[in-house]
Formats: sequence, structure tokens, C-alpha cells
Amino acid sequence: MAEDLFLRDLWYLGARSATLKPGAMRRETLLGEPMLIGRARDGTAFALRDICPHRGVPLSAGKMLPEGTVECPYHGWRFKTDGVCAHIPSLVPGQDMDPARIRVRSFPVRERDGLIWVYMPASGHENAPPRCEAPEIPLKGATPRWVESQTFRCGIDHAVIGLMDPAHAPFVHGRWWWRVKIREKAKNYAPLPNGFVMTRHKPTKQAYKMLGGDVTTEITFELPSTRFENISGTIAGKRLDVIGLTVCTPRDAETTEVTQIFFWPAWLGFIKPFFMALGPTFLGDDRRMVELQREGLKFNPNLMLIQDADQPAIWYHRLKKAWSESVESGAPFANPVQERTLRWRS
Ligand code: FES
Ligand SMILES: [Fe+2]
Repeated sequence: MAEDLFLRDLWYLGARSATLKPGAMRRETLLGEPMLIGRARDGTAFALRDICPHRGVPLSAGKMLPEGTVECPYHGWRFKTDGVCAHIPSLVPGQDMDPARIRVRSFPVRERDGLIWVYMPASGHENAPPRCEAPEIPLKGATPRWVESQTFRCGIDHAVIGLMDPAHAPFVHGRWWWRVKIREKAKNYAPLPNGFVMTRHKPTKQAYKMLGGDVTTEITFELPSTRFENISGTIAGKRLDVIGLTVCTPRDAETTEVTQIFFWPAWLGFIKPFFMALGPTFLGDDRRMVELQREGLKFNPNLMLIQDADQPAIWYHRLKKAWSESVESGAPFANPVQERTLRWRS
């Protein structure tokens, strides 16, 4: 199997449900590949390689027909949402070519919690069933309540590491109205099936106070780049859960879309202004730091990872390596993370 920049046999966030109406389709780039992401008129989301197998024109530039096929704008070949060719207009009776033997590649899609996940198989695994399930929001009837998406001009690794790095906050996110007092932290970490978790603890940041007394939070990370912050609190004797999802979608080797979504129960609507005020600013801080980092990375310098603040980044590299090896060899994935407490000042 050829060396790949991106992890395969995993689910990536392809789109948010709300951005794709029935009968709509658009071109996206996912892991460097052109992808048509669409929604049939019956509401089913689908993903096809956005290259017509006839002469290479992007199918997304064509039309979605009422019968439920995608029509190529060049010679009108029609494809079903599973990628099978349904019609070739130029054929005359007696020309015994079976369109159904032609197909454009289709990708497994799962739509849940207002998100559309696309499975990106390794080459040779195109017809195998997905080896894991798409992420699920651990909140009943989850709907994205607050969304912020920014395009980072970096590969997925620097985006992921920048977001999981605990030591940058006071320098990158500090503001006069958001004071970050540097103090020593000790957090316990444990392995998860495809990643690791900073186990449940009382957060130190003041902002959490608005979610009532006894607030606790846990932060999970799983491949390829799904980070959940599961916050629990109690307001007026009522237990509440707020879920923050941060996910990186690699568009290509140098471009990563970072999406941050918060889910909370409908009755908790009053916390929205809080996220509206802070979210864009904070993700923007990270994006600007990545732009600055580009200036150095151009020269391909050797970089460092130090204990304990960079341990999550070290785990990320090890997880990636273990995952690639398992995809390649077919052996079960062996998680290299071991439970331990990390200490740092931030
Ligand atoms: S290029 Fe698509 S039908 Fe010819
Ligand atoms: Fe950050």
C-alpha cells in the first residue's frame, strides 16, 4: 500500500446537515480528493468521487434529476447515488453496452446529530465494510447549537497538535477580559478505543462557573481528529450536559478545516451569547498562530516535543503510526497510550 499523508479506514466530517438541502450537491476536497457531497430529494446524503468516469468532468457541475440521479454536464451520463451508471444518452438501440457496468466511486456516509460523516477507505479496502462507526454525540437528540468553522493553512497534524496542546493557552488566548493565571496542572489520562481521554475533573477556568455548581468536564481525543469536551453541571437543581466537538477536516496536505460545534439541551438556550462572543475569537487565535508557524515550517526545521506538556502530541503521533500499521497489516489496532498523570504549568 502506498504511503499516504492521511489516515484511512476512518470517518471524516464531510459537511454539516444544515448546509445541504434536498436536491443540492457541491464539490468539496477531502483528503486531497475531489468529492461530490449531495443530498437526494428523499433526504439521503451521499458522497461520490467528483470525476465523471467518461471524460473527467466534475459531476457536481451537473444536475440532480427528479428521478434521483446525478447528470454529468458534458454528455449527460446519469449516476445513481451509489455511483452506478443508470443512463448513457448517446446509446442507440442494439448497442449492447450495459451502463450499470460503469460506476463512479461512492463513499459510505453516516448522517447523525446534524453532521455528515464520510468514510475514507484505504486503497484496496473500497469494498470492505467500515472498520469502525462514525462518531456519535453523547447527548440525546443532539443538534448543533453553535458552530464556528475556520480554515487553517496547515496540514492536519499541526492543526490537531495545536488544538490539543495545553501549554499555549496563556500566550495565545490570554486577554485582559479573559485572564489566564498560570498555575501548575496535574491531569489524569487514560486510553480510549482509538485515542485517549483526560478523565473527568473540575475545570479551573472561571467561564465554567456559568454552568452552575459542581461542574466537571472530560476531554476525549480519537483518531483521526475528533475531540469531545463533555461538560456536566447543575443549574437550579437540574443536571445539564454541554458537549463541545472540535473536528479537523483535512482538505489537502496544506489546508485543514477546523470546526467547533457545541451541543446543549434546548432549555439551555440562554448560554448561546456566551459562545457567540468567545468561540470565533479563540479558534481565530489558533488559526493565526498556525499562519505564523508557516513562516518557520517553510524551512523544514527539526521540531521538539517535551514532557509533559507535549505528551498528548506524542501520543497523537504514536496513535497515527499504530493505526497506519494496523490498516496496512490487517492486524487489530493496538492503542499505544497508557494511563498516566501529566503535569505542566499553563
Ligand atoms: S464526461 Fe461525463 S458524460 Fe462525458
Ligand atoms: Fe488554542
